This record gives sequence, structure tokens and C-alpha cells, in this order.
Amino acid sequence: MNSKPLLDVQNLVTEFGSIKDPLRVVNGISFSIYEGETIGLVGESGSGKSVTCLSAMNLLPTARVSGSVRWKSESVLDAPRHRHQSWMGKEMAMIFQSPQASFNPVFTIGYQFIETIQAHHRVSKPVAKQMAIELLKQVNIPDPELRMSDYPHQFSLGMCQRMMIALTLSMSPSLLIADEPTASLDVTIQAQVMALIEDIKQTHPLSVLLISHDLGLVAQYCDRVMVMYLGDIVESGPTVDVFQNPQHPYTISLLQSIPSTNPHHRVRPVPIMGDIPSPKHRPSGCPFNPRCPLKTSRCVSERPSITTEQHRHHVACFESALYQG
Ligand SMILES: Nc1ncnc2c1ncn2[C@@H]1O[C@H](COP(=O)(O)OP(=O)(O)OP(=O)(O)O)[C@@H](O)[C@H]1O
Ligand SMILES: [Mg+2]
Repeated sequence: MNSKPLLDVQNLVTEFGSIKDPLRVVNGISFSIYEGETIGLVGESGSGKSVTCLSAMNLLPTARVSGSVRWKSESVLDAPRHRHQSWMGKEMAMIFQSPQASFNPVFTIGYQFIETIQAHHRVSKPVAKQMAIELLKQVNIPDPELRMSDYPHQFSLGMCQRMMIALTLSMSPSLLIADEPTASLDVTIQAQVMALIEDIKQTHPLSVLLISHDLGLVAQYCDRVMVMYLGDIVESGPTVDVFQNPQHPYTISLLQSIPSTNPHHRVRPVPIMGDIPSPKHRPSGCPFNPRCPLKTSRCVSERPSITTEQHRHHVACFESALYQG
């Protein structure tokens, strides 16, 4: 594996609200993504997963984002507009949970595909049209030639999601950030979407940052996983290590809170005690301490930090044997 990361994020902090009364949503996190790897980002709703990705891509004009984000060693946060635009789509691409919103409702799908393909590849209109039809075929859109003249609202949500992924991947990005790309899809289509991403990875060195609530999907497709809680990464490491030997009490609770799909091993899911607090009421010390069954007085007074060295299992919990603080 290449020793230089594609994307290197150090001490990323994202705040909304006024400077006097800031709302800190991402609390100084660090991570790197290397060529060809698939990384999962998991955590309860509101933990800051989407804001982390949008901040790293410098797509949050209303937020205050600080720290360092480097794309192939170039600073993303300080990049001039034209440089940033040249990365978006071509090098880093992001797909969102609501695909219908990503297409423009007033243009046909064919028009939008041909425009995007021509913006990224030097090809004539008839060639772009043929490429578009091929892409639609690849993601199993029936009668692609005919459907080119349809508008986004004439497709199902699953079809829109598959078309959006096909269009994004047609730009051959090096990094795909997929924010819950399969959340609104049924399991068969989820499998197709992930298979499509895997197929592309066979022919093109694509790195993927997959945000998902589906821990099964993450277990199946991700080389590494990062667990986020209230704006902090509380545990990270190779997916097998983190899922088979979880260290942070939050990761343990998260894994226990999902229903088992194994019919021979039916364990009743245990909901996580209490709710995730609002970032406005961030607890002192470890962010998980108000909900943690293992909490000690140190967890209330001191915040455990996580080391950022690559490819090992890391945890931000004083009580874990792996803690290196
Ligand atoms: N534009 C914004 N202005 C103010 N607060 C925001 C803004 N966007 C997000 N937040 C807050 O930031 C926190 C993290 O939000 P984020 O969308 O990143 O969570 P998430 O982990 O992606 O959740 P989900 O799993 O539901 O998608 C939440 O408390 C949210 O209310
Ligand atoms: Mg989100």
C-alpha cells in the first residue's frame, strides 16, 4: 500500500453558530485515507459524520472549519476556488442520501448525463450519448435508450440512486465519499450498488469512504472503520478487529444495539442507554461518559485522546487495555 495518504485530515474542527456562541460539531479529529481502501464511518444520528465529510471537502460555506485537510499533499481548506473546482467530481466525489435532489428536476436524465460526460471527457455528443446509455445499462436501468428522455421524477428512488452513482463513477474519481448511499434502498438494490462500487475498484484504484448505519454492510465492504460519537472519533482500526474485539464502550453498545441477522444466533438487541446529547451540551471529559457503564471520575475530568497512527486498532477510552494516551 502506498505510504502517502490520498486524503489526510488532521485536527479537523467544525463549528456552526456565532463566534461568541459556537456550536462545535466536529471536535478535532484526524484520519487518513489511502489509495484503494474502503473505510467505514459509523455512529448514531447526529454524531457528525456528514459534517465531517462536507468539511473535509470544503463544502460548508456557513461553517467555521479549521485544522489541516490535504488532498495528495495540497491544502484543501486554503485552495483557490478554481483548484477546488478541478478536484470536485474528477478527483473527489460525494454521493448523498437523497439522489433525486442531486439531479436537476428540469432537465432530462439523458441531457444531464451527456453534459457531465462531456465536461469530463473530450468526446462528441453522439459518443457521450452512447457512453450514457452504457452507464444506464451497467446499473440495470431497463430500456436505457428510451429512458434517456425522461425526467428525474419519472424514476424510482432506487433508480435515481443507481444512476447518480453511475454518473459519479463515470468521472473516475480517486475518492468516493458515499454518505449513506443505500439507506433508502431495498436490500437487493443495496447489494447492486455495493457490487457496482466493487466492480469499479477492480479496474480503477478507487478509495471509498462509506458512511452507513448498516454495520453489516460496513463489515462486509470496509477494510477499516472509524466510530464517531458527538464529533469525536472514539475508536478506529481494521474492521475485523473493531467489530470482533470492540474496545470503546460506545462501540460495544452500538454493536449490541443492532438486531442479529444470523437465525442460529438470535440475541435480543440492547438499545444504547440514554440519547446522544446535542453538541450544545457537550459533557466535559469523555463525550460518552454520561451514558457509559464503565465511567470513572477520570472520564468526567479528562478527555481521552486517540492516536492516529495507521492500520492499527485505536481507542479513546481510559478503561481499554489498548488505550495509549
Ligand atoms: N448547517 C448546520 N447548522 C447547524 N448545525 C448543524 C448543521 N448541519 C449539521 N448540524 C448539526 O451537526 C450535528 C452533526 O450533524 P451530521 O449531519 O453531521 O450528523 P450525522 O452523523 O451525519 O447524522 P445522520 O446519521 O442522521 O446523517 C447535528 O447536531 C446537527 O444538528
Ligand atoms: Mg449524515
